[in-house]
Amino acid sequence: MSENQHLKRQQRIQALLGKAGLQAVALNPGPDLTYFSGLEFHLMERPVLLILPGDGPSVLILPELESAKVDDLPYPIRPFFFNEDPGTWVGIFQAALQEAGLSSGKLGLIPRRLRVLELNYLQSAAPDLEFESAQDLISQMRMIKDGSELAKMGEAVRIAECALTGILSSLKPGQTEKEVAARLVGRLLAQGSDPALPFFPIVSFGENSANPHASPGERVLKEGDLVLIDWGAAYQRYCSDITRVFALGDLHPELDKIALFVAEANTAGREAAKPGVPASAVDRAVRQVISEAGYGDYFTHRTGHGLGGEAHEEPYISEFDQTILKPGMTFTIEPGIYLPGRGGVRIEDDVLITEDGCRSLTELSRELGQLLPDDSMI
Ligand code: CO
Ligand code: CO
Repeated sequence: MSENQHLKRQQRIQALLGKAGLQAVALNPGPDLTYFSGLEFHLMERPVLLILPGDGPSVLILPELESAKVDDLPYPIRPFFFNEDPGTWVGIFQAALQEAGLSSGKLGLIPRRLRVLELNYLQSAAPDLEFESAQDLISQMRMIKDGSELAKMGEAVRIAECALTGILSSLKPGQTEKEVAARLVGRLLAQGSDPALPFFPIVSFGENSANPHASPGERVLKEGDLVLIDWGAAYQRYCSDITRVFALGDLHPELDKIALFVAEANTAGREAAKPGVPASAVDRAVRQVISEAGYGDYFTHRTGHGLGGEAHEEPYISEFDQTILKPGMTFTIEPGIYLPGRGGVRIEDDVLITEDGCRSLTELSRELGQLLPDDSMI
């Protein structure tokens, strides 16, 4: 990414603040703070806060021990350092808010990330300040990915696909879900994933695959099992999130059948995803295929979610999300059919809205893969 990219993003949100009725936006550690500053902080007991004011350079409240992070930044910033004495922190917040011109008016926050910890300091430092969600404002920007973001996501997909392909032939009867998940995690890191994976892989065998959010356990792989793997990599903090299903030997015929319907629904979703249609239209197209197949009651979640700096972000591909799809948006399409006690199939792709349709970033075959008890795989 060009070094000025972060400055451009700061200037862009500054230009949008007035229309949103906000004096400034305050962000604590996480993907939003990193998006605007390129800086990374852990969410810990010390309250780091980046304030993007309507004009002038950004203000950053941070511990002295992290001061090296703001040396040589490629854009101007006004840092306010605090020491290890929490008794002095309200004073630091006061000085920082004053510098940002924030004594009253509305400060935009991200409700699902900002903690009561930061909120208390803000309220104590500026009792007349009002708070409002800046979620929509920021997601409008973050939903549209630029070329450098797309390149990172493409790499996250490539790493994830290579990692899975690398372990498939080693899946053998008798291994537990946890063992397979551990091998997959090792492979993801060896292929170049960031150590902070977007999420721990789901590896579920047989009846466990009927739980869409199963976590790997002690269940042992057996002949006749369906194997569901939902995994992803992160590359320079951008995520992939993929699901594929496999069979060890012959499956119950109904499981073979639902695998075909889910693949068909996935195709319908990718065909429905294009600029100008609402996110809900993609969900409807997917759900229609599964309902017509008679399994509508067994598709128990939305069709997908935005993907990028977070594994789940806007837009949400659900009947309730009317976001109009635009070129540069990236999200998952992940229909599933789950038969309790028997097994479930989900096929999840990561897609990009283009000028005239949608392109899948994921390229692995969507067919039910056959695992063999010996060392080969068809
Ligand atoms: Co997934
Ligand atoms: Co997903």
